[in-house]
Amino acid sequence: MRIGVLTSGGDCPGLNAVIRSVVHRAVTVHGDEVVGFRDGWRGLLVGDWIKLDLDAVSGILARGGTILGSSRVQPAQLRDGVERTREHMADLGLDAIVPIGGEGTLKAARLLSEAGLPIVGVPKTIDNDISATDVTFGFDTAVTVATEALDRLKTTAESHQRVLIVEVMGRHTGWIALHAGMAAGAHAIVIPERPFGIEELTAVVGRRFEMGKRFAIVVAAEGAKPREGSMPFETGGIDAFGHERFAGVARQSAVELERRLGKEARPVVLGHVQRGGTPTAYDRVLATLPQPSAGGTPTGWHAVEAVHRGEFGTMTALRGTRITLVPLAEAVRSLKAVPADRYAELSAVV
Ligand code: F6P
Repeated sequence: MRIGVLTSGGDCPGLNAVIRSVVHRAVTVHGDEVVGFRDGWRGLLVGDWIKLDLDAVSGILARGGTILGSSRVQPAQLRDGVERTREHMADLGLDAIVPIGGEGTLKAARLLSEAGLPIVGVPKTIDNDISATDVTFGFDTAVTVATEALDRLKTTAESHQRVLIVEVMGRHTGWIALHAGMAAGAHAIVIPERPFGIEELTAVVGRRFEMGKRFAIVVAAEGAKPREGSMPFETGGIDAFGHERFAGVARQSAVELERRLGKEARPVVLGHVQRGGTPTAYDRVLATLPQPSAGGTPTGWHAVEAVHRGEFGTMTALRGTRITLVPLAEAVRSLKAVPADRYAELSAVV
């Protein structure tokens, strides 16, 4: 068989490990050929590809980013490109495409699959918000990076008696904020799933100072918002890909907290540092091992097997202790939000 692989959307530590897993399984076990499209769907749309053999994936297990490059493509471009994609696939003699990506990528995969193209997706996101799978590689790395940053910020916040509001990634969901905040012992956590009241946040931070503590750390997922009417809040509109542009929840809350508390409050935006660099050992194992009992997660390994079984229009997923395939339509139906009781539980611990 001839299989095409691509990585699309925001990059994520562990992508290279998955590309390697596809190539190893396909080439070594099935004698397939693998090609990689450059810069996500763009490569597929314009026919920009490279050959992926065992040499091409040698030494990439621990490398961050993606050797294939990534990009976002506007849905309209993809819709218009279905026939071109079909032609490129025929020219290259491709039997299947394995896109590795998050919500946007899987929606695009669904679109192409519904147009009749043979697709098996692999879920990827540092945000851990794909509901059809229990876990995705990259999340542990992002949480680890954010936790280390929070640990460091605590010491400087204490030296200067500051409140630091640390903005972490998490567009629709607060998993990174919750886990990193809990791991680092943050003093408050705000997430997109639950609009926060600036009065309550001020009270929580204020209580710490009343207790004689000299600093506070608030973790805010980038998509978190204050409750309607709670404080002035600018939003950033929508970008060319239909995604919300964030106007800085940390920056805006810092202004309010400083005004209300009379303590210096500063925003810190961790941004892409959470996505860059080498994956943690845990994520490398998740991205590599085939068996859930051995700690494995849906990877290239399973996607290649699904391709050989002809199970197209699907995505690999980990459910409990079983690796399974779910229809792409189900994979993109809803996001995995932090449940209210989990938030209450976790925020009670910090
Ligand atoms: O979806 C993953 C993610 O890292 C989000 O948490 C974040 O909002 C987004 O990607 C940022 O994407 P970009 O790098 O395109 O700004």
